[in-house]
Amino acid sequence: MPRILIVDDEPTILNLLNKILTGQGYDTTPAGDGEKALQLLQTETFDLMISDINMTPINGMELLSKASESYADMGVIMLTAYGTVSTAVEAMKNGAFDYITKPFKLDELVLTVQRALEYYNALTENKTLKSQIVHLEKLDGIIAESPGMRKVCDMVERVAPTNTTVLVYGESGTGKGLVARALHRYSPRKDKTFMAVNCAALPAQLMESEMFGHVKGAFTGASSTKIGLFEAAHGGTLFLDEISSMPLDIQSKLLRVLQDKKIRKVGGSDHTEVDVRIIAASNEKLESLIEQDKFREDLYYRLSVISIDIPPLRTRPEDILPLIDHILRKESGPDVELPLLDRNAQEILDNYNWPGNVRELENAIQHALTFAQNGSLTKETLPAKIVDAVEAGIRSGVITSRRDQFKGKSLKAFLHDKENEFLQRTIDNVAGDKEKAAEELGISLATLYRKLPQKKNGE
Ligand SMILES: Nc1ncnc2c1ncn2[C@@H]1O[C@H](COP(=O)(O)OP(=O)(O)OP(=O)(O)O)[C@@H](O)[C@H]1O
Ligand SMILES: [Mg+2]
Repeated sequence: MPRILIVDDEPTILNLLNKILTGQGYDTTPAGDGEKALQLLQTETFDLMISDINMTPINGMELLSKASESYADMGVIMLTAYGTVSTAVEAMKNGAFDYITKPFKLDELVLTVQRALEYYNALTENKTLKSQIVHLEKLDGIIAESPGMRKVCDMVERVAPTNTTVLVYGESGTGKGLVARALHRYSPRKDKTFMAVNCAALPAQLMESEMFGHVKGAFTGASSTKIGLFEAAHGGTLFLDEISSMPLDIQSKLLRVLQDKKIRKVGGSDHTEVDVRIIAASNEKLESLIEQDKFREDLYYRLSVISIDIPPLRTRPEDILPLIDHILRKESGPDVELPLLDRNAQEILDNYNWPGNVRELENAIQHALTFAQNGSLTKETLPAKIVDAVEAGIRSGVITSRRDQFKGKSLKAFLHDKENEFLQRTIDNVAGDKEKAAEELGISLATLYRKLPQKKNGE
Protein backbone atom coordinates (compact mmCIF):
# COMPACT_ATOMS: atom_id res chain seq x y z
CA MET A 1 0.00 0.00 0.00
CA PRO A 2 1.55 3.34 -1.03
CA ARG A 3 2.63 5.48 1.93
CA ILE A 4 1.90 9.19 1.83
CA LEU A 5 3.28 11.87 4.13
CA ILE A 6 0.96 14.88 4.40
CA VAL A 7 2.38 18.15 5.71
CA ASP A 8 0.25 21.21 6.47
CA ASP A 9 0.15 23.57 9.42
CA GLU A 10 -3.57 24.19 8.98
CA PRO A 11 -5.24 21.39 10.98
CA THR A 12 -8.48 21.54 8.96
CA ILE A 13 -6.70 20.98 5.66
CA LEU A 14 -4.42 18.37 7.16
CA ASN A 15 -7.41 16.41 8.43
CA LEU A 16 -9.31 16.80 5.21
CA LEU A 17 -6.41 15.53 3.10
CA ASN A 18 -5.85 12.71 5.51
CA LYS A 19 -9.47 11.65 5.36
CA ILE A 20 -9.71 11.78 1.58
CA LEU A 21 -6.51 9.86 0.97
CA THR A 22 -7.20 7.23 3.63
CA GLY A 23 -10.56 6.80 1.96
CA GLN A 24 -8.71 6.09 -1.28
CA GLY A 25 -6.87 3.26 0.41
CA TYR A 26 -3.53 4.97 0.99
CA ASP A 27 -1.47 4.58 4.12
CA THR A 28 -1.18 8.20 5.26
CA THR A 29 0.87 9.94 7.93
CA PRO A 30 -0.05 13.53 8.81
CA ALA A 31 2.57 16.02 10.01
CA GLY A 32 1.57 19.41 11.45
CA ASP A 33 4.77 21.19 10.49
CA GLY A 34 7.99 20.87 8.49
CA GLU A 35 10.10 19.84 11.44
CA LYS A 36 7.85 16.93 12.25
CA ALA A 37 7.94 15.95 8.58
CA LEU A 38 11.75 15.94 8.51
CA GLN A 39 11.85 13.73 11.60
CA LEU A 40 9.46 11.27 10.00
CA LEU A 41 11.43 11.25 6.76
CA GLN A 42 14.55 10.27 8.65
CA THR A 43 12.99 7.22 10.22
CA GLU A 44 10.38 6.07 7.73
CA THR A 45 10.06 5.61 3.99
CA PHE A 46 7.29 7.25 2.01
CA ASP A 47 6.30 6.97 -1.62
CA LEU A 48 4.87 10.45 -1.78
CA MET A 49 4.85 13.67 0.19
CA ILE A 50 2.15 16.30 -0.10
CA SER A 51 3.25 19.55 1.44
CA ASP A 52 1.86 23.01 1.88
CA ILE A 53 4.21 25.78 0.70
CA ASN A 54 3.42 28.45 3.27
CA MET A 55 4.43 27.12 6.65
CA THR A 56 6.63 28.21 9.54
CA PRO A 57 9.31 27.72 10.76
CA ILE A 58 10.32 25.36 7.93
CA ASN A 59 8.43 26.22 4.77
CA GLY A 60 7.42 23.85 2.00
CA MET A 61 10.20 24.94 -0.32
CA GLU A 62 12.89 24.08 2.20
CA LEU A 63 11.22 20.78 2.85
CA LEU A 64 11.13 20.13 -0.88
CA SER A 65 14.79 20.90 -1.35
CA LYS A 66 15.75 18.54 1.49
CA ALA A 67 13.46 15.88 0.06
CA SER A 68 14.75 16.09 -3.49
CA GLU A 69 18.30 15.95 -2.18
CA SER A 70 17.98 13.01 0.17
CA TYR A 71 14.83 11.20 -0.91
CA ALA A 72 14.89 11.39 -4.69
CA ASP A 73 12.68 8.32 -5.10
CA MET A 74 9.83 10.00 -3.28
CA GLY A 75 7.45 12.16 -5.28
CA VAL A 76 6.48 15.56 -3.92
CA ILE A 77 3.24 17.43 -4.59
CA MET A 78 2.98 20.99 -3.36
CA LEU A 79 -0.13 22.71 -2.09
CA THR A 80 -0.43 26.35 -2.86
CA ALA A 81 -2.97 29.05 -2.25
CA TYR A 82 -4.75 30.40 -5.30
CA GLY A 83 -2.78 33.25 -6.83
CA THR A 84 0.67 32.05 -5.88
CA VAL A 85 1.22 29.90 -8.89
CA SER A 86 4.66 31.43 -9.51
CA THR A 87 5.91 29.83 -6.29
CA ALA A 88 4.45 26.53 -7.39
CA VAL A 89 6.29 26.83 -10.67
CA GLU A 90 9.49 27.46 -8.76
CA ALA A 91 8.71 24.31 -6.79
CA MET A 92 8.40 22.25 -9.97
CA LYS A 93 11.71 23.58 -11.15
CA ASN A 94 13.16 22.43 -7.83
CA GLY A 95 11.93 18.90 -8.27
CA ALA A 96 8.28 18.83 -7.22
CA PHE A 97 6.20 16.50 -9.38
CA ASP A 98 3.15 18.75 -9.54
CA TYR A 99 1.20 21.23 -7.49
CA ILE A 100 -2.40 21.64 -6.43
CA THR A 101 -4.01 25.00 -5.78
CA LYS A 102 -6.21 25.47 -2.73
CA PRO A 103 -9.16 25.18 -2.67
CA PHE A 104 -8.76 21.92 -4.54
CA LYS A 105 -11.25 19.62 -6.17
CA LEU A 106 -11.45 16.10 -4.86
CA ASP A 107 -10.93 14.40 -8.22
CA GLU A 108 -8.04 16.69 -9.05
CA LEU A 109 -6.29 15.72 -5.84
CA VAL A 110 -6.92 12.01 -6.30
CA LEU A 111 -5.79 12.07 -9.92
CA THR A 112 -2.61 14.01 -9.23
CA VAL A 113 -1.70 11.64 -6.41
CA GLN A 114 -2.33 8.61 -8.61
CA ARG A 115 -0.23 10.04 -11.38
CA ALA A 116 2.66 10.90 -9.11
CA LEU A 117 2.67 7.43 -7.59
CA GLU A 118 2.55 5.78 -11.02
CA TYR A 119 5.36 7.94 -12.27
CA TYR A 120 7.69 7.29 -9.35
CA ASN A 121 6.87 3.61 -9.41
CA ALA A 122 7.81 3.40 -13.04
CA LEU A 123 10.98 5.33 -12.34
CA THR A 124 12.22 3.00 -9.65
CA GLU A 125 11.26 -0.10 -11.60
CA ASN A 126 13.12 1.10 -14.62
CA LYS A 127 16.09 2.51 -12.87
CA THR A 128 18.54 -0.25 -13.61
CA LEU A 129 17.20 -0.73 -17.10
CA LYS A 130 17.18 2.96 -17.84
CA SER A 131 20.78 3.59 -16.99
CA GLN A 132 21.69 1.19 -19.78
CA ILE A 133 19.68 2.91 -22.46
CA VAL A 134 21.44 5.69 -24.26
CA HIS A 135 19.84 9.06 -24.16
CA LEU A 136 19.49 9.13 -27.85
CA GLU A 137 16.56 6.74 -27.65
CA LYS A 138 15.12 8.01 -24.42
CA LEU A 139 12.22 9.78 -26.02
CA ASP A 140 11.09 7.91 -29.06
CA GLY A 141 11.81 9.79 -32.27
CA ILE A 142 13.60 12.78 -30.75
CA ILE A 143 17.29 12.99 -31.51
CA ALA A 144 19.06 14.47 -28.54
CA GLU A 145 22.80 14.08 -28.64
CA SER A 146 23.61 17.64 -27.53
CA PRO A 147 23.38 18.76 -23.89
CA GLY A 148 20.81 21.37 -24.93
CA MET A 149 18.47 18.84 -26.50
CA ARG A 150 19.00 16.39 -23.67
CA LYS A 151 17.82 19.03 -21.27
CA VAL A 152 14.71 19.45 -23.40
CA CYS A 153 14.06 15.71 -23.27
CA ASP A 154 14.59 15.61 -19.52
CA MET A 155 12.04 18.39 -19.13
CA VAL A 156 9.59 16.57 -21.37
CA GLU A 157 10.00 13.42 -19.34
CA ARG A 158 9.43 15.23 -16.10
CA VAL A 159 6.44 17.34 -17.04
CA ALA A 160 4.68 14.98 -19.46
CA PRO A 161 2.96 12.92 -16.74
CA THR A 162 1.62 16.01 -14.98
CA ASN A 163 -1.37 18.10 -15.97
CA THR A 164 0.61 21.29 -16.16
CA THR A 165 0.31 23.74 -19.00
CA VAL A 166 3.52 23.93 -21.00
CA LEU A 167 4.79 26.68 -23.24
CA VAL A 168 7.28 25.53 -25.87
CA TYR A 169 9.63 28.08 -27.36
CA GLY A 170 11.90 27.65 -30.34
CA GLU A 171 12.76 29.12 -33.72
CA SER A 172 10.88 27.84 -36.70
CA GLY A 173 11.72 24.21 -37.47
CA THR A 174 13.40 23.40 -34.14
CA GLY A 175 10.87 20.73 -33.21
CA LYS A 176 8.15 22.47 -31.19
CA GLY A 177 5.44 20.29 -32.70
CA LEU A 178 7.54 17.21 -32.04
CA VAL A 179 7.99 18.16 -28.37
CA ALA A 180 4.29 18.92 -27.97
CA ARG A 181 3.39 15.48 -29.31
CA ALA A 182 5.96 13.85 -27.03
CA LEU A 183 4.41 15.63 -24.03
CA HIS A 184 1.11 14.03 -24.97
CA ARG A 185 2.56 10.62 -25.81
CA TYR A 186 4.34 10.33 -22.47
CA SER A 187 1.32 11.47 -20.47
CA PRO A 188 -1.56 9.48 -18.98
CA ARG A 189 -3.69 11.12 -21.68
CA LYS A 190 -1.81 9.28 -24.41
CA ASP A 191 -4.77 7.17 -25.45
CA LYS A 192 -7.04 10.20 -25.76
CA THR A 193 -7.04 12.78 -28.51
CA PHE A 194 -4.18 15.09 -29.34
CA MET A 195 -5.63 18.12 -31.13
CA ALA A 196 -3.45 20.74 -32.75
CA VAL A 197 -4.52 24.15 -33.92
CA ASN A 198 -2.31 26.65 -35.66
CA CYS A 199 -3.46 30.02 -34.40
CA ALA A 200 -1.64 31.81 -37.23
CA ALA A 201 -3.42 29.83 -39.93
CA LEU A 202 -6.93 30.31 -38.57
CA PRO A 203 -8.79 33.49 -39.57
CA ALA A 204 -9.65 35.56 -36.48
CA GLN A 205 -13.41 35.45 -37.15
CA LEU A 206 -13.37 31.65 -37.19
CA MET A 207 -11.15 31.09 -34.22
CA GLU A 208 -13.74 31.38 -31.49
CA SER A 209 -16.14 28.93 -33.06
CA GLU A 210 -13.29 26.57 -33.99
CA MET A 211 -12.03 26.52 -30.42
CA PHE A 212 -15.29 26.49 -28.49
CA GLY A 213 -17.86 25.39 -31.07
CA HIS A 214 -21.13 27.10 -31.96
CA VAL A 215 -24.84 26.47 -31.70
CA LYS A 216 -27.18 26.27 -34.65
CA GLY A 217 -27.99 29.74 -35.94
CA ALA A 218 -25.22 31.45 -33.98
CA PHE A 219 -24.20 33.28 -37.13
CA THR A 220 -24.96 33.17 -40.84
CA GLY A 221 -23.89 29.80 -42.11
CA ALA A 222 -24.10 28.08 -38.72
CA SER A 223 -26.64 25.57 -39.98
CA SER A 224 -26.05 23.08 -37.21
CA THR A 225 -24.50 22.89 -33.78
CA LYS A 226 -20.82 22.09 -33.89
CA ILE A 227 -18.42 21.17 -31.13
CA GLY A 228 -15.10 22.99 -30.92
CA LEU A 229 -11.55 21.78 -30.45
CA PHE A 230 -11.80 21.96 -26.66
CA GLU A 231 -14.68 19.53 -26.55
CA ALA A 232 -13.10 17.36 -29.20
CA ALA A 233 -9.93 17.16 -27.12
CA HIS A 234 -11.80 16.33 -23.89
CA GLY A 235 -9.65 14.04 -21.77
CA GLY A 236 -6.69 14.67 -24.04
CA THR A 237 -4.33 17.45 -25.06
CA LEU A 238 -4.90 20.62 -27.06
CA PHE A 239 -1.84 22.06 -28.78
CA LEU A 240 -2.12 25.77 -29.50
CA ASP A 241 0.60 26.38 -32.06
CA GLU A 242 1.82 29.92 -32.76
CA ILE A 243 -0.15 31.21 -29.81
CA SER A 244 1.39 34.67 -30.34
CA SER A 245 -1.02 35.12 -33.26
CA MET A 246 -4.11 34.63 -31.14
CA PRO A 247 -6.31 37.78 -31.20
CA LEU A 248 -6.74 39.53 -27.85
CA ASP A 249 -10.47 38.82 -27.54
CA ILE A 250 -9.89 35.10 -27.98
CA GLN A 251 -7.06 35.31 -25.47
CA SER A 252 -9.55 36.59 -22.87
CA LYS A 253 -11.93 33.75 -23.65
CA LEU A 254 -9.16 31.21 -23.46
CA LEU A 255 -8.13 32.56 -20.07
CA ARG A 256 -11.66 32.08 -18.78
CA VAL A 257 -11.75 28.52 -19.99
CA LEU A 258 -8.43 27.77 -18.33
CA GLN A 259 -9.71 29.21 -15.07
CA ASP A 260 -13.19 27.70 -15.06
CA LYS A 261 -12.47 24.50 -17.02
CA LYS A 262 -15.77 25.12 -18.80
CA ILE A 263 -16.56 26.29 -22.30
CA ARG A 264 -19.53 28.05 -23.84
CA LYS A 265 -20.33 27.63 -27.51
CA VAL A 266 -20.68 30.73 -29.68
CA GLY A 267 -24.32 31.79 -29.50
CA GLY A 268 -25.04 29.33 -26.69
CA SER A 269 -25.82 29.86 -23.04
CA ASP A 270 -24.89 26.51 -21.51
CA HIS A 271 -21.49 25.77 -20.04
CA THR A 272 -19.84 22.43 -20.69
CA GLU A 273 -17.08 21.10 -18.47
CA VAL A 274 -13.91 20.19 -20.28
CA ASP A 275 -10.79 18.42 -19.10
CA VAL A 276 -8.06 19.40 -21.52
CA ARG A 277 -4.36 19.81 -21.06
CA ILE A 278 -2.96 22.79 -22.89
CA ILE A 279 0.39 22.95 -24.61
CA ALA A 280 1.22 26.16 -26.43
CA ALA A 281 4.09 27.01 -28.75
CA SER A 282 5.59 30.21 -30.00
CA ASN A 283 8.66 31.26 -31.92
CA GLU A 284 8.71 34.69 -30.36
CA LYS A 285 9.01 35.48 -26.71
CA LEU A 286 5.61 36.43 -25.35
CA GLU A 287 7.14 38.87 -22.87
CA SER A 288 7.92 41.33 -25.64
CA LEU A 289 4.39 41.00 -27.01
CA ILE A 290 3.01 41.81 -23.57
CA GLU A 291 4.97 45.06 -23.63
CA GLN A 292 3.39 45.90 -26.97
CA ASP A 293 -0.07 45.10 -25.58
CA LYS A 294 -0.47 42.25 -28.03
CA PHE A 295 -0.57 39.51 -25.45
CA ARG A 296 -2.39 39.35 -22.13
CA GLU A 297 -0.06 39.13 -19.21
CA ASP A 298 -2.48 37.07 -17.10
CA LEU A 299 -2.85 34.51 -19.87
CA TYR A 300 0.91 34.38 -20.24
CA TYR A 301 1.26 33.45 -16.56
CA ARG A 302 -1.38 30.76 -16.92
CA LEU A 303 0.29 29.27 -19.97
CA SER A 304 3.92 29.48 -18.98
CA VAL A 305 3.69 27.43 -15.81
CA ILE A 306 6.51 25.44 -17.34
CA SER A 307 8.35 26.64 -20.40
CA ILE A 308 10.65 24.57 -22.55
CA ASP A 309 13.19 26.31 -24.76
CA ILE A 310 14.38 24.38 -27.77
CA PRO A 311 17.79 25.68 -28.80
CA PRO A 312 18.41 26.51 -32.48
CA LEU A 313 20.25 23.81 -34.44
CA ARG A 314 23.31 26.04 -35.05
CA THR A 315 24.06 25.99 -31.31
CA ARG A 316 24.06 22.19 -31.11
CA PRO A 317 26.28 20.81 -33.89
CA GLU A 318 26.46 17.42 -32.13
CA ASP A 319 22.90 16.77 -33.25
CA ILE A 320 23.51 17.29 -36.97
CA LEU A 321 24.98 13.90 -37.88
CA PRO A 322 22.58 11.84 -35.73
CA LEU A 323 19.72 13.84 -37.25
CA ILE A 324 20.93 13.13 -40.78
CA ASP A 325 21.10 9.46 -39.95
CA HIS A 326 17.60 9.61 -38.45
CA ILE A 327 16.19 11.43 -41.48
CA LEU A 328 17.83 9.03 -43.92
CA ARG A 329 16.32 6.09 -42.07
CA LYS A 330 12.91 7.74 -42.03
CA GLU A 331 13.05 8.59 -45.72
CA SER A 332 14.47 5.27 -46.89
CA GLY A 333 12.10 3.02 -45.01
CA PRO A 334 12.97 -0.19 -43.20
CA ASP A 335 15.31 -2.88 -44.55
CA VAL A 336 16.81 -0.62 -47.17
CA GLU A 337 20.51 0.07 -47.32
CA LEU A 338 21.09 3.68 -46.33
CA PRO A 339 22.71 5.98 -48.87
CA LEU A 340 26.21 7.15 -48.03
CA LEU A 341 26.97 10.74 -47.20
CA ASP A 342 30.43 11.57 -48.50
CA ARG A 343 32.92 13.68 -46.60
CA ASN A 344 32.49 16.84 -48.61
CA ALA A 345 28.74 16.77 -48.23
CA GLN A 346 29.09 16.05 -44.55
CA GLU A 347 31.44 18.98 -44.11
CA ILE A 348 28.96 21.33 -45.80
CA LEU A 349 26.07 20.14 -43.64
CA ASP A 350 28.21 20.35 -40.53
CA ASN A 351 29.24 23.92 -41.17
CA TYR A 352 26.02 25.48 -42.39
CA ASN A 353 24.24 27.65 -39.85
CA TRP A 354 20.71 26.26 -40.42
CA PRO A 355 18.43 29.30 -40.09
CA GLY A 356 15.48 26.97 -40.83
CA ASN A 357 16.73 24.46 -38.26
CA VAL A 358 15.82 20.76 -38.43
CA ARG A 359 13.09 21.33 -41.00
CA GLU A 360 15.66 22.90 -43.35
CA LEU A 361 18.01 19.97 -42.71
CA GLU A 362 15.20 17.57 -43.62
CA ASN A 363 14.58 19.46 -46.84
CA ALA A 364 18.28 19.43 -47.69
CA ILE A 365 18.46 15.66 -47.21
CA GLN A 366 15.34 15.13 -49.31
CA HIS A 367 16.92 17.29 -52.00
CA ALA A 368 20.11 15.23 -51.83
CA LEU A 369 18.17 11.96 -52.03
CA THR A 370 16.35 13.18 -55.13
CA PHE A 371 19.60 13.95 -56.92
CA ALA A 372 21.66 11.09 -55.52
CA GLN A 373 23.40 8.78 -57.93
CA ASN A 374 24.58 5.26 -57.10
CA GLY A 375 23.27 5.65 -53.58
CA SER A 376 25.76 8.28 -52.61
CA LEU A 377 25.02 11.77 -51.33
CA THR A 378 27.68 14.13 -52.57
CA LYS A 379 28.16 17.86 -52.32
CA GLU A 380 26.59 18.20 -55.78
CA THR A 381 23.31 16.69 -54.56
CA LEU A 382 22.83 19.34 -51.85
CA PRO A 383 20.82 22.55 -52.40
CA ALA A 384 23.10 25.10 -54.07
CA LYS A 385 22.11 27.77 -51.56
CA ILE A 386 23.56 25.76 -48.69
CA VAL A 387 26.77 24.82 -50.51
CA ASP A 388 27.30 28.42 -51.63
CA ALA A 389 26.74 29.83 -48.15
CA VAL A 390 29.25 27.46 -46.56
CA GLU A 391 31.86 27.93 -49.29
CA ALA A 392 31.54 31.70 -49.07
CA GLY A 393 31.97 31.40 -45.30
CA ILE A 394 35.12 29.32 -45.71
CA ARG A 395 36.56 31.78 -48.25
CA SER A 396 35.95 34.75 -45.99
CA GLY A 397 37.35 32.94 -42.99
CA VAL A 398 34.09 32.95 -41.01
CA ILE A 399 34.02 29.18 -41.16
CA THR A 400 37.14 27.08 -40.69
CA SER A 401 36.77 24.03 -42.83
CA ARG A 402 37.60 20.87 -40.98
CA ARG A 403 40.57 20.10 -43.20
CA ASP A 404 41.96 23.58 -42.57
CA GLN A 405 41.82 23.00 -38.85
CA PHE A 406 44.88 20.81 -39.26
CA LYS A 407 46.75 22.99 -41.73
CA GLY A 408 49.97 24.73 -40.68
CA LYS A 409 49.50 24.03 -37.01
CA SER A 410 52.09 22.59 -34.68
CA LEU A 411 51.04 19.51 -32.79
CA LYS A 412 51.18 21.54 -29.59
CA ALA A 413 48.87 24.24 -30.90
CA PHE A 414 46.46 21.63 -32.21
CA LEU A 415 46.36 19.75 -28.92
CA HIS A 416 45.92 23.01 -27.07
CA ASP A 417 42.89 23.88 -29.21
CA LYS A 418 41.42 20.44 -28.74
CA GLU A 419 41.94 20.66 -24.99
CA ASN A 420 40.14 23.99 -24.88
CA GLU A 421 37.27 22.58 -26.86
CA PHE A 422 37.02 19.61 -24.51
CA LEU A 423 37.14 21.78 -21.39
CA GLN A 424 34.46 24.08 -22.74
CA ARG A 425 32.19 21.17 -23.66
CA THR A 426 32.55 19.64 -20.22
CA ILE A 427 31.69 22.98 -18.63
CA ASP A 428 28.66 23.37 -20.91
CA ASN A 429 27.54 19.86 -20.06
CA VAL A 430 27.28 20.74 -16.38
CA ALA A 431 25.55 24.05 -17.10
CA GLY A 432 28.61 26.18 -16.39
CA ASP A 433 29.31 24.76 -12.93
CA LYS A 434 33.13 24.88 -12.97
CA GLU A 435 33.54 22.95 -9.73
CA LYS A 436 31.53 20.07 -11.11
CA ALA A 437 33.39 20.27 -14.41
CA ALA A 438 36.75 20.07 -12.64
CA GLU A 439 35.54 17.03 -10.75
CA GLU A 440 34.44 15.34 -13.95
CA LEU A 441 37.72 16.16 -15.64
CA GLY A 442 39.67 14.81 -12.68
CA ILE A 443 41.62 18.03 -12.15
CA SER A 444 41.51 20.67 -9.45
CA LEU A 445 39.42 23.78 -9.83
CA ALA A 446 42.59 25.90 -9.80
CA THR A 447 44.05 23.84 -12.67
CA LEU A 448 40.83 24.24 -14.62
CA TYR A 449 40.96 28.00 -14.24
CA ARG A 450 44.61 28.05 -15.28
CA LYS A 451 43.85 26.05 -18.39
CA LEU A 452 40.90 28.12 -19.49
CA PRO A 453 41.67 30.88 -21.99
CA GLN A 454 41.91 34.21 -20.13
CA LYS A 455 38.90 36.39 -20.82
CA LYS A 456 39.60 39.88 -22.03
CA ASN A 457 38.08 42.79 -20.17
CA GLY A 458 34.40 43.27 -20.82
CA GLU A 459 33.90 39.79 -22.27
N1 LIG B 1 15.35 16.50 -32.28
C1 LIG B 1 14.71 16.03 -33.35
N2 LIG B 1 14.77 14.72 -33.65
C2 LIG B 1 14.14 14.23 -34.73
N3 LIG B 1 13.41 14.97 -35.58
C3 LIG B 1 13.29 16.29 -35.33
C4 LIG B 1 13.93 16.88 -34.20
N4 LIG B 1 13.63 18.19 -34.19
C5 LIG B 1 12.84 18.42 -35.26
N5 LIG B 1 12.63 17.28 -35.96
C6 LIG B 1 11.84 17.15 -37.20
O1 LIG B 1 11.96 18.37 -37.90
C7 LIG B 1 10.72 18.77 -38.47
C8 LIG B 1 10.32 20.11 -37.93
O2 LIG B 1 9.91 19.97 -36.59
P1 LIG B 1 8.57 20.69 -36.05
O3 LIG B 1 7.56 20.77 -37.08
O4 LIG B 1 8.23 20.04 -34.75
O5 LIG B 1 9.21 22.13 -35.77
P2 LIG B 1 8.47 23.45 -35.28
O6 LIG B 1 9.38 24.07 -34.29
O7 LIG B 1 7.09 23.10 -34.85
O8 LIG B 1 8.47 24.32 -36.58
P3 LIG B 1 7.48 25.56 -37.00
O9 LIG B 1 7.81 26.70 -36.11
O10 LIG B 1 7.89 25.78 -38.41
O11 LIG B 1 6.09 25.04 -36.83
C9 LIG B 1 9.73 17.67 -38.15
O12 LIG B 1 9.65 16.78 -39.23
C10 LIG B 1 10.34 17.00 -36.94
O13 LIG B 1 9.96 15.66 -36.86
MG1 LIG C 1 5.24 23.55 -35.77
